[in-house]
Amino acid sequence: MDKVLTFLAVLTSLLVLCQWYVFSSLRTYLFRRYSPVTRKVAYPALAIIALANFLFVKLSFGTDIFNPGSFAQQVASVVFFTYLGCVLTLTLYFLLLGLASSTLDLKNLLLRLIDGRKSRREPPAVQCEAPGCLSTPDVSKTCDRPNCSVDVATDRTNSEVEAQTPADAAPELSRRSFLQWGAATGLTTAVVLAGHGISEAYANPVIEEFDLFNPALDGLDRTVTIIQVTDFHFGLFCESPELERLVERLNDIDGDAVVITGDIFHSGLSPIEKAAPVLKRLKARRLGNFAVLGNHDFYAGLERSIDCIERSGLRLLRNEWLTFEAGSTRVHLGGIDDPMSNWVWGAEFPRFNEFAARSPRTRGLRVLLSHRPAILPFAGRAGVDLVLSGHIHGGQIILPVPGEPTGLSIARIASPYTHGWYRDGAGSMYLNRGVGLTFVPWRVNCPPEISVFHLKPSRELSQAVTGTVIRESGGKVVS
Ligand SMILES: [Fe+2]
Repeated sequence: MDKVLTFLAVLTSLLVLCQWYVFSSLRTYLFRRYSPVTRKVAYPALAIIALANFLFVKLSFGTDIFNPGSFAQQVASVVFFTYLGCVLTLTLYFLLLGLASSTLDLKNLLLRLIDGRKSRREPPAVQCEAPGCLSTPDVSKTCDRPNCSVDVATDRTNSEVEAQTPADAAPELSRRSFLQWGAATGLTTAVVLAGHGISEAYANPVIEEFDLFNPALDGLDRTVTIIQVTDFHFGLFCESPELERLVERLNDIDGDAVVITGDIFHSGLSPIEKAAPVLKRLKARRLGNFAVLGNHDFYAGLERSIDCIERSGLRLLRNEWLTFEAGSTRVHLGGIDDPMSNWVWGAEFPRFNEFAARSPRTRGLRVLLSHRPAILPFAGRAGVDLVLSGHIHGGQIILPVPGEPTGLSIARIASPYTHGWYRDGAGSMYLNRGVGLTFVPWRVNCPPEISVFHLKPSRELSQAVTGTVIRESGGKVVS
């Protein structure tokens, strides 16, 4: 089966389970216990959830229904991913709540055992409604009076049965109350997290700085500083005021070049002509200001995008290399178009060999700008020293996980590259978290970023990067 379809099927199934879990938990904790009515509607409700998910996934990802970046696709993406963000937050919360609840129950159980109290469940008292029927707590199953249909065994839920036992009543009530308050707190937390995610998404970009040592730079007369910024997605959650603030921030940083690694614009609906006068205010640099095309720049319309980039005063690199003299060595700067293949994997670069064959043969550091990080293995084999990339946005949500020094991005389910440094053979890649947003205006533990690289000579035989962690392509930390 096509791997994209497999991925979407697995993702949709997982999401359907999460949604059902959240709805069941809300019903159980906030409203009332599971009842036969729920059972009757369970399967149709599940089917509706699955169908809604399938439709929204198709609308969000499927380029065969709408033009990529169309209004309908944008609306579907924003609605669906905002909803999923809340569902996933609540899933995690209810799992923790369930764990805490079980722990509380365990404590009561242990206390009862220590006290030597019998935790016997008494049969419940049920008042039969039939005339003359006097059902008592000793009724074992069903009242035998004519026209009486009370079924003792099934009419009460377990919790109500437990509440009849005096010894158990206090802990059970306390637990239910805890669950109700807990569920209400969960909903509040989800709303607060949503607010926090929005404020982080629009926060000022943080500046990540690195010293990069490479023997190819021996002979350099001064440090060369490259500033990377990526994925503005102008037209979706990024308009002229946000872009103006970004340009001001970039102008405050000293450097020899600014490189923009794609997705400057978002879609065909984006008023991209408004971006040119703002981008034109970028400070002139010793080497220049450069850009490459990302997939969304193609969605915005290739001719429009190229025209706007050129009017911005940026030097667009389309499958080409430039060489700069630096002391007695050189810095070779290359840029490649996005391959416009699948949104998630996009690991095929059909024209890469042709491009690599044109790379400069003279000594110097080879730096390649590629919107898509999946180019790293190809670049490493072709003798590229450093790839600067974007596209993934760090997944916009990074979970702090033990054993993962830079956290675990949710984008890891779809891409081996998510954020930070990677190495493949002799080549290294830095994957910037971007400054813009797609799908939802949310970032959690994944602030927008401007990265700054100070290129320096090294007498050692291998390339080194200071101040960070480097992973092998597969994600393993190596230094
Ligand atoms: Fe992209």
